[in-house]
Amino acid sequence: MLEEEYDRDRRRLPRHLRRQPEPEQPFAFSIRPVEDADVPDIREIYNYYVTNSVVTFDEDTWSIAQWRDKREQLQKLGLPFLVAQSPAGQVLGYALVQPMSSKSAYRFSVENSIYLGQAATGKGLGRALLEALIEACEEAGIRQIVAVISDKGAEGSIALHERLGFVEVGRMGRVGYKFGRWLGTIYLQKSLKPAKKKGLFAR
Ligand SMILES: CC(C)(COP(=O)(O)OP(=O)(O)OC[C@H]1O[C@@H](n2cnc3c(N)ncnc32)[C@H](O)[C@@H]1OP(=O)(O)O)[C@@H](O)C(=O)NCCC(=O)NCCS
Repeated sequence: MLEEEYDRDRRRLPRHLRRQPEPEQPFAFSIRPVEDADVPDIREIYNYYVTNSVVTFDEDTWSIAQWRDKREQLQKLGLPFLVAQSPAGQVLGYALVQPMSSKSAYRFSVENSIYLGQAATGKGLGRALLEALIEACEEAGIRQIVAVISDKGAEGSIALHERLGFVEVGRMGRVGYKFGRWLGTIYLQKSLKPAKKKGLFAR
């Protein structure tokens, strides 16, 4: 043993006197409708995936103004937009639905979107948030939700949607091109049991 190693061992405190690591906090969150103050966090969460992944086909990051417009547009249409927050108030992720098309006959059908901050993934939050989104859609009278998912790098999203009863209804090959490679889309659909019988989008 080297001399300095001997000294180091001698200086070590007995186990019961050593500082114990902080106990790990349980992962806790609550889910609520989005507020204007959430927009900067939402932007940051989404832009991470725009810049670093092919789970979204957006290539340009979104601005705060774009997110504010989106929120206002969905609010006017009465479409659910939820966030999950930590006990300290940090936004951990969001889920929303938007019209599938601007053509009016589509008014009972929406496309959904769900993104969590990287540190919040893999802990059951995606499931809780998507369940809450589905429930909110049923309250709003929506009949069909469609998830359009990248065929590369989105295994977690496909697994989550399938766990919650979405069924694959089709694929399109090579419709996107990002980071120098072709990407396809997978369509998963879920039929809902709407609480309200009368339509969507103020019609
Ligand atoms: C996709 C995403 C929303 C899933 O949320 P999550 O909190 O990580 O997932 P959960 O921990 O709630 O897991 C939900 C279920 O999917 C399964 N799952 C999650 N990730 C998986 C993976 N990579 N492979 C296989 N199964 C997976 C879990 O086992 C779990 O199943 P269970 O409830 O039967 O145990 C989240 O990971 C995320 O935001 N990813 C990056 C952005 C993204 O891809 N968004 C979707 C774009 S279409």
